[in-house]
Amino acid sequence: MNAFYARSALYAAFFTPSTEMRQSVDRLARRHLRRKPLRVLDPACGPGLWLAHFLAQGAEVAGSDLEPKAIAMAAKTLPARGARVVVGDMRRPPDELGFGFDCVINLDNSIGHLSDYMDVAEHFASIRQRMTDRGIYLVGLALREDGDSIHTGLVYERGPVDIEGGGFAALRTESLGLQPTTRCERIRQITITANVPDTPAVIAEQYDLLTFTLPMLKDILAAAGGFEVLACHDATDESLPARAFRKSAGDVVLVLRRSKETSAKRGGLTRRSRAPRKKTTR
Ligand SMILES: C[S@@+](CC[C@H](N)C(=O)[O-])C[C@H]1O[C@@H](n2cnc3c(N)ncnc32)[C@H](O)[C@@H]1O
Repeated sequence: MNAFYARSALYAAFFTPSTEMRQSVDRLARRHLRRKPLRVLDPACGPGLWLAHFLAQGAEVAGSDLEPKAIAMAAKTLPARGARVVVGDMRRPPDELGFGFDCVINLDNSIGHLSDYMDVAEHFASIRQRMTDRGIYLVGLALREDGDSIHTGLVYERGPVDIEGGGFAALRTESLGLQPTTRCERIRQITITANVPDTPAVIAEQYDLLTFTLPMLKDILAAAGGFEVLACHDATDESLPARAFRKSAGDVVLVLRRSKETSAKRGGLTRRSRAPRKKTTR
């Protein structure tokens, strides 16, 4: 597991969504739903930062995450009324979270943490089952083609910032580029902390995130039962400007709606979508 994700106070200090990002996401949701979301699911919710945002707007929210400490933090900070959070794998979020969500949100290429494309197809299929017919799925992912290269080096640098509960910390994230065999983007992240309770002075980790070629992604969405792509937005800009849904589009936020059941059988990915499983690099 990622040690940074287990430190929710650190995660929240760096990744609480900005006002601009919140407004952009609200705009997308309202454009495609024609109203505010009523029931929101985040299947990799971390400490529940997006759930808190939608709860404050009156939505009923539910979330799950593989990391028990993040769920403990979400359970502590979100009011019990209107929010349900449990430990669970996004391949199949726990049924106790319920069904009939009109908005599912899963940003920052969190699905890239899954082990392989079969897992991603399983994820989309189970999200599809949990959505209403006119519901939307706002999902962040990386569209890269074979032979694309990613600019290596600094991706994100911030700090020192104060950490709730005491101490301060700085974070640096770098990309080591696309790994040719697995098509994953390798990320190196270093967190330096001082006086943060129960936290090491340095957390250094390296992990791989799945990326998707456009044909693979289309294959996966079909194998998951069928989704229509309503819109594609540039995830590297918090105003989320529109971007063409095309090969090599890079880090994007897609707005998906379930379409009629496709004829592709679940688990029926073609060979182009079966890349080798990633290896843990930590
Ligand atoms: C980039 S964070 C996003 C958290 C949250 N959605 C947000 O936007 O603030 C990625 C999250 O994915 C979680 N994660 C990784 N693999 C997972 C899996 N298989 N199932 C559920 N959560 C997972 C991590 O624990 C982490 O909290």
